[in-house]
Amino acid sequence: MAVERTLAILKPDCVRKELIGEVLRRIQDAGFEVCALKMLRMSKQEAEGFYAVHEGKPFFDELTDFMSSGPCVPVVLEKENAIADFRELIGATNPEDAEEGTIRSDFADSIGENIVHGSDSVENGQNEAAYFFPEHEIVANRG
Ligand code: CMP
Repeated sequence: MAVERTLAILKPDCVRKELIGEVLRRIQDAGFEVCALKMLRMSKQEAEGFYAVHEGKPFFDELTDFMSSGPCVPVVLEKENAIADFRELIGATNPEDAEEGTIRSDFADSIGENIVHGSDSVENGQNEAAYFFPEHEIVANRG
């Protein structure tokens, strides 16, 4: 199976609830390698750029307001089958639909404030990682 890259964002609700350590622990325990990480506060414009594919949807303004409401932690992760495995670890977008024991089921309050983002395809994993990190800041330790 191929090693894939996914971009996680520990969202402002994750930071506010002091869950950075807990969520990273679960991610690492699930076998993901942390290859880059930082904390930043996105401007409204940066959040709109990151979520440009959702522009025009009814929740776009709420989503970008929330994502720019406080600091977040983008994290580049690598693992075999990372895209699908990460989405399984975090659970469905709406925490009410998320499997028991997933990160969103355990910690998220709503579909908008759902603790963590994960890329939905290999191509988006590459592009989303590049939105926050130049390639030379993404460091793999395998081997
Ligand atoms: P995320 O994985 O970050 O990708 C897009 C985000 O939009 C998603 O998680 C949700 O937090 C948010 N989102 C999707 N649908 C809705 C909705 N109906 N209302 C509010 N936010 C939504």
